[in-house]
Amino acid sequence: MTDFNSLGFASRAIHDGQHPDPLTGAVNVPIYLSSTYAQEEIGRHKGYEYSRVSNPTRDALETNLASLEGGTSAHVFSSGMAAIMAMITMFRTGDHIICGENVYGGTPRLFNQVITGYGIEFSYVDTSDPENVRRAIRPATKLVHIETPTNPIMTLTDIRAVADVCHERGVELAVDNTFMSPYFQRPIQLGADIVMHSTTKFLNGHSDGLGGVLIGTKPEHKENFAFVQKCTGGILSPFECWLVLRGVKTLAVRMRQHDASGRRIAEYLAGHPKVQKVYYPGLPSHPQYDLAKRQMSGFGALISFETGSLENANKMLRHVKVCTLGESLGGVETLISHPATMTHAAIGADVRAKLGITDGLVRISAGIEDVDDLLADLDQALVHI
Ligand SMILES: Cc1ncc(COP(=O)(O)O)c(C=O)c1O
Repeated sequence: MTDFNSLGFASRAIHDGQHPDPLTGAVNVPIYLSSTYAQEEIGRHKGYEYSRVSNPTRDALETNLASLEGGTSAHVFSSGMAAIMAMITMFRTGDHIICGENVYGGTPRLFNQVITGYGIEFSYVDTSDPENVRRAIRPATKLVHIETPTNPIMTLTDIRAVADVCHERGVELAVDNTFMSPYFQRPIQLGADIVMHSTTKFLNGHSDGLGGVLIGTKPEHKENFAFVQKCTGGILSPFECWLVLRGVKTLAVRMRQHDASGRRIAEYLAGHPKVQKVYYPGLPSHPQYDLAKRQMSGFGALISFETGSLENANKMLRHVKVCTLGESLGGVETLISHPATMTHAAIGADVRAKLGITDGLVRISAGIEDVDDLLADLDQALVHI
């Protein structure tokens, strides 16, 4: 059998976990819809008993994603939020978790409105300075959960530095790597213990399926996350596993194009007289440009920019034609959104103000259309400001 560990990223994305079907030779992993599996006698079967517990299509995807992130296990769930929820089941009443202050809005909503009810405490800190993390760690701290770059202000956290701080105190580091995908950023290589993704975004890549994954590095992660799949049943369906498997095959080429277009759009916006500020880690003006070059092998598709007011943002967003106004990111189509009223509405005006999420801020997730069409579309829309 081929040693996939020796292959490059794009080759592993296509082949790891995805051997031709032994029964028929089918090149693509079949979608195993069967909920149950025939057993030869009591306790004797081919490794599968019941699909909530394990499923061959899911196994293929999990093998693949563990390989791409450089972890030792992966477990997929019905959404990114379900994956975060599964991770939190590792903790108990009295435990303390530190979370980046500017993560996807659904994450603090889950923590503050659901999990705190079970006696787990959360602190929110600006993790762009690892010293803030050091200061926030208490004897009861079990986990630090971060996103880098943050959404939508694109602030980076030095993963290696925060991992060192965590490990000095016996705390685990989890990184939500949804924005960069393993193609551009590999947190486990930088010291993270757990990587999480909303596969809804770049991994699936076609805006046609929700999903989430936890990639672990320790035997207890594998045991725990598999147990949560079995107990709670919040697993990814075989069909959606297959969609992500198919999406991941083109991850490398898609990410290269997302990145190339992201850079062009960021440069264009930075030179536009009506755009007051651009947030993109690939611009030399980004305050953490050096860290971005060191920690990531590309800068990605996400760009935010300041139009000056809600009115200006709306005037522009009303006129886009190739870009689609909508929430989410990471699809082949360019999505443009208004964080203050969409993704970050729930966190409230005070928190938005603290994080610099103004009413005039617009976020783009650059797709893989012809970039000249995207630039022309933005150009005609910005005329209306
Ligand atoms: C960075 C990040 N993490 C987690 C999530 C939650 O994922 P899902 O929508 O798949 O539940 C999102 C969704 O937008 C996200 O952007």
